[in-house]
Amino acid sequence: MKIAVLPGDGIGTEIVAEAVKVLQVLDLQFELESALVGGAAYEAHGHPLPDATLQLAKDADAILFGAVGDWKYDKLERHLRPEQAILGLRKHLGLFANFRPAICYEQLVGASSLRPELIAGLDILIIRELTGDIYFGQPRGRRTAADGHFPGAEEAFDTMRYSRPEIERIAHVAFQAARKRDKRVTSVDKANVLETFQFWKDVVSEVGLQYPDVALDHMYVDNAAMQLVKAPKKFDVLVTGNMFGDILSDEAAMLTGSIGMLPSASMNSSNQGLYEPSHGSAPDIAGQGIANPLATILSAAMMLRFSLNQPEAAQRIEAAVKDVLAAGLRTGDIYSEGTTRVGTRAMGDAVVAALNKSKG
Ligand code: IPM
Ligand code: MG
Repeated sequence: MKIAVLPGDGIGTEIVAEAVKVLQVLDLQFELESALVGGAAYEAHGHPLPDATLQLAKDADAILFGAVGDWKYDKLERHLRPEQAILGLRKHLGLFANFRPAICYEQLVGASSLRPELIAGLDILIIRELTGDIYFGQPRGRRTAADGHFPGAEEAFDTMRYSRPEIERIAHVAFQAARKRDKRVTSVDKANVLETFQFWKDVVSEVGLQYPDVALDHMYVDNAAMQLVKAPKKFDVLVTGNMFGDILSDEAAMLTGSIGMLPSASMNSSNQGLYEPSHGSAPDIAGQGIANPLATILSAAMMLRFSLNQPEAAQRIEAAVKDVLAAGLRTGDIYSEGTTRVGTRAMGDAVVAALNKSKG
């Protein structure tokens, strides 16, 4: 089992180190190889996704990814910015299906900004299309009145587009995921305004005919954003495009108390996956040893389950995370009175200890 380890920037290196520690106590044979990505790769090699990093990722069964980005790169040309690394990996590896579960851990009900009764027991799954939409639309660019190039541009544009096969394949992923859950899919669109999303809605409905056992409904994205804070437990699986999925998954993550808890998986059609926390590089707290490593540790669990066919090991990690929460350990983002505040490393150590204990 070959795992490419790409920590990236900001808190990425700190949290990935903890997830690697957890993987290493599992008694499984992994081949772990690390490479630079994002701003770190730009500093060292002049590009956020160097060829060697991309090749390592392509050759791996799975990729454990931290986070990329820092405001200090905002002035770089777009193709050199850290974010291009993750977008490039998604595109080059065809990682079109992004799973972002939002689960509210019992012990963290109080950490949410919503009332406990709204989120206790929350378990929803956002499935975000990841390689199309306005993120990758052509044409894109800036125009001046004179010659079409910036600087001095007067206009900028990105093109929103989806093809039928792109929508069909993500719709199948959503319906199949729903079959293993509560058998309900909400497709989120903006069909009242955008042609791209009327098409999305039509194609998802067509695919839905093949899944008579799964209930499908459609919701405009603005309403979905509202319903997510009004009555989040009414959802089961949400499926949507790249841009809306980006926004709604942050919103859904925060319902659970902390975005620091939520893992994600980005899969291609051969079950190769990239696993990363749903949160970003948090440059404001980088280097302080206070970031929550649990989202990354839980991403490693998803990796074991989805790409490496080790469901038992995945379950052991998830149980260990619940144990440390039950023992009252909290990083700052999920801290509340009466619990014990710990740093990144101590949290990782606690998960390792819980795993060793469960070994018996
Ligand atoms: C995410 C992030 C990325 C995205 C950025 C870093 C490019 O926000 O994974 O949600 O917009 O997809
Ligand atoms: Mg995002």
